[in-house]
Amino acid sequence: MSDQVICRAGPSLALLKYWGKEVKGDNLPATPSLAVTLGGVHSETRVRVADRDEVSVDGECQDTARFAPFFDGLRAGLGVSTRFHVESVNTFPTSAGLASSSSGFAALAGACARAAGRDPSLADLSAMARVGSASAARAVFGGFTLLPTGARRARAVFGPEHWPELRIVVAITLRGPKPISSRRAMDETRSGSPYYFSWIKESAALLPDALRGLEKRDLELLGETARRSYSLMHAATLAARPPILFWLPATVAVIHACAALRAQGIGAWETIDAGPQVKILCLAPDAPKVRASVETAAPGTETILCGVGPGLRYGPFEGTGG
Ligand code: DP6
Repeated sequence: MSDQVICRAGPSLALLKYWGKEVKGDNLPATPSLAVTLGGVHSETRVRVADRDEVSVDGECQDTARFAPFFDGLRAGLGVSTRFHVESVNTFPTSAGLASSSSGFAALAGACARAAGRDPSLADLSAMARVGSASAARAVFGGFTLLPTGARRARAVFGPEHWPELRIVVAITLRGPKPISSRRAMDETRSGSPYYFSWIKESAALLPDALRGLEKRDLELLGETARRSYSLMHAATLAARPPILFWLPATVAVIHACAALRAQGIGAWETIDAGPQVKILCLAPDAPKVRASVETAAPGTETILCGVGPGLRYGPFEGTGG
């Protein structure tokens, strides 16, 4: 059993959204989600064996109740009784709609397993990470991943080498945590939106086109399908009672900037998760123009350029003291 284990994971950005659980309180997804693991940003999680479970994220102690199902599931899955001291940091804003729970729980599952002296398969780590956050089931894999409806684990669809020219421009319209968590918002959409079951039905129908677009590296087909997915998801969310509106004026300005780029023949396809940030799919040669257009359209918006990233990586890493 090693002293400290360090594990990194990139956030999993959904092109087709997971939004809704088959049963409340369990993270079995009610929709299929297809995602890309981002490169260039990550969660880094350090774990050592301890007397009790303790977690800090970006230096802040976390409520252990949020983590209890994850730790209990992980111990059961690994067949151990180990407890863990955890310090996790993100190289991007936490809980702001940038999928920090996906990378955070993926890196946590990887680090805890090794700290407990186990080396499970990525598929088994995916199942353990899902108990923390369903999107984390995807983030253990690099490249492009699928978490099917009702699935306990995600699977890799293509590795990062499938589409090296793909870029994701992350537009941070507002720093700081979002006003309502994904988990609560998806529960309230399920219980209060008359469009919830239409969303579930429509989102399943998007999968074949999204997979075809990805397989053929057809940015227009994939981008149009991803746009449809986030539009349907946010329409259902807005129809909840009370309505949940994640978008800010800057979010809308970025949506229009992407439409203007497409009208000029530049492939810029936006997607939006639970928060005001916008992520834009484009190809590498167009990325500088996309960033400049977004920053002009929504002054004060910061952009981060990401590629397609790898799956879990273990330290030591250069320059981190790890
Ligand atoms: C909008 O995975 O954070 O980012 O399973 O309740 O922890 P829980 O939710 P979480 O939700 C992610 C929602 C989303 C879409 C997605 O990543 O598929």
